[in-house]
Amino acid sequence: MTQRTVTLTDNATGKEYEFPIMEGTEGPDVVDMRAFYKDTGMFTYDPGFTSTASCDSTLTFIDGEKGILRHHGYAIEDLAEHCSFPEVCFLLLRGELPNHGQKETFKDEINNHTMVHDQIISLFHGFRRDAHPMAIMCGVVGALSAFYHDSLDISDPDQRWRASLRLIAKMPTIAAMVYKYSIGHPFVQPNNELSYAENFLRMTFSVPAARWYISPKVVRAMNKIFVLHADHEQNASTSTVRLAGSSQANPFACIAAGIASLWGPAHGGANEAVLRMLAEIGHKSRIPEFIKRAKDKDDPFRLMGFGHRVYKNYDPRAKVLRDSARDVLTEMGVIEEPLMELALELERIALEDEYFVERKLFPNVDFYSGIILKAMGFPTSMFTALFALGRTVGWVAQWNEMMSDKVQKIGRPRQLYIGQKSRDFVPLEKR
Ligand code: ACO
Repeated sequence: MTQRTVTLTDNATGKEYEFPIMEGTEGPDVVDMRAFYKDTGMFTYDPGFTSTASCDSTLTFIDGEKGILRHHGYAIEDLAEHCSFPEVCFLLLRGELPNHGQKETFKDEINNHTMVHDQIISLFHGFRRDAHPMAIMCGVVGALSAFYHDSLDISDPDQRWRASLRLIAKMPTIAAMVYKYSIGHPFVQPNNELSYAENFLRMTFSVPAARWYISPKVVRAMNKIFVLHADHEQNASTSTVRLAGSSQANPFACIAAGIASLWGPAHGGANEAVLRMLAEIGHKSRIPEFIKRAKDKDDPFRLMGFGHRVYKNYDPRAKVLRDSARDVLTEMGVIEEPLMELALELERIALEDEYFVERKLFPNVDFYSGIILKAMGFPTSMFTALFALGRTVGWVAQWNEMMSDKVQKIGRPRQLYIGQKSRDFVPLEKR
């Protein structure tokens, strides 16, 4: 078959340049622009990477127009319904769902690393109690490189695997410690006999002085939330992890960079912002006022939890969460959750509004997750930390994929310089 190409013409010189087209298994083809600068002496311009593929990847496929999300070919709806989070971690790291034996071995491998170095407790005590959980998480995860020297050699696949296991295993422990620290409770050690989700809930909500019980339905919902957040291809935080990793930085530092990027309200911080927004709206009668503000270009207000760079349809993760929310609310004994009613009504009104229809703005994963997490008892400030916990496996899997990809180079975008041209230096006394 002949190689498909794209030809570009510079209409000033009439010169033609030809670039090969690369085809994936699904989704848009890409134009291979690697020789563009060498051939033309020009750069491409694409702020926000709206049309730029930065890598090839086998992990996650999204069809934003149809609202499809798959990991290694498996639909997110099936994974969320039928898999434990560690099974999905195995899938992302190994490319296949584990069989019974592999599942057990992987569980043991994770369990080997659930505790954190005792010295990390001292590190925690250096933070203010009212610090944002993401600020502490960023610091503690970055600091793991100071504790686990036997997983810093990124050229050694065994050390990379150990670092990956450590990160996946320790994130629940760290996230729970962040919460416990903020409320002044003693830290609760992990219990490896429990599932990943239940262990995390126990470390977060149990206290040494009392017996602890959690409904299996709530554990299932927690598991589902982790699965739904596991990976989402080249989003801002994942691209941050890859960019940091492209300089050969150690894995703990790279994941800390991802956590920092996730924190922003345009990304993972939106789940926290959604609850603040719903509280501010307060009542269904005020929805039209806020819809009007969201449409006003002179008002910085945006409908949080709405819109997505890739999805131009209902985010499939939001659909799963919307359907699960009722179960969790009922299980937690919440007969009527005004925020849920408000969210459903807000969604209904927005999806009938021409502004949102025209721009294909639908609820994203953050729109309903906060309502569930709040019902479980998490404070709003923990929401993004829980997103980071679930997403760690995606960051780690993407980082591993990049580390074994021969094509990858240090990430180094170019720019269009629009500043001053060369000028004569002006001494201080003449300025
Ligand atoms: N409310 C009101 N208008 C919106 C919203 C919104 N939530 N989202 C997008 N728009 C409008 C924009 O103003 C723009 O309008 P215009 O064409 O008239 O200028 C148009 O829709 C396209 O939006 P962009 O900002 O260009 O889209 P982009 O892909 O850059 O941004 C983003 C995507 C950041 C998610 C955006 O939709 C947003 O800010 N949403 C709210 C925050 C949010 O929920 N973030 C979570 C994303 S999911 C995640 O990270 C897990």
